[in-house]
Amino acid sequence: MIEINTYSEKDTLKLGKEIGSLAWPGMIILLEGDLGTGKTVLTRGLARGLGIEEPITSPTYTLIHQYQGRLPLYHFDIYRLNDAEEMYDLGYEEFFYGQGVTVVEWPERMGYLRPNEYLGISIEKVPDNGVDKRNIRVAPVGRVYEDFAKEWIKYDGISS
Ligand SMILES: Nc1ncnc2c1ncn2[C@@H]1O[C@H](COP(=O)(O)OP(=O)(O)OP(=O)(O)O)[C@@H](O)[C@H]1O
Ligand SMILES: [Mg+2]
Repeated sequence: MIEINTYSEKDTLKLGKEIGSLAWPGMIILLEGDLGTGKTVLTRGLARGLGIEEPITSPTYTLIHQYQGRLPLYHFDIYRLNDAEEMYDLGYEEFFYGQGVTVVEWPERMGYLRPNEYLGISIEKVPDNGVDKRNIRVAPVGRVYEDFAKEWIKYDGISS
């Protein structure tokens, strides 16, 4: 597990951008954290790292937005999902197990359809003098993601 604190939206964007620049086809990122913690901000950074310049807005009602950069980006926000089966109606498998990068806000909602391997990122607000501090925990699940995390630490000099 890699733990990083950010102190501004800009910091979180930068973190996302770094991960996005290292993303590969088929990468899945599950983003946990309460309302307003910065999941969409992090996704915006990921998009920038994939070379996507258009505005990244929350797919609150449509549940998914797609973008094309160096790789396709599939941005899910399934807060409003009623049950896991609805993921089938969205055709989720083609996204998750395709050649793009999949990011999911509120992955708790997909229940048993949660993939077996993914990069888990959870964001928490930290009571601070201001309101901008966030504790971000990156937890790889599965071999490919564990290897990614190891390489990333070396590349970045982040301490785990
Ligand atoms: N360190 C930080 N990192 C990210 N966002 C921050 C930070 N400090 C303050 N913010 C602010 O917190 C808000 C995060 O909003 P964002 O839409 O990304 O949350 P979210 O987790 O996607 O929420 P939701 O569950 O409603 O989709 C933004 O207004 C952003 O400016
Ligand atoms: Mg959001």
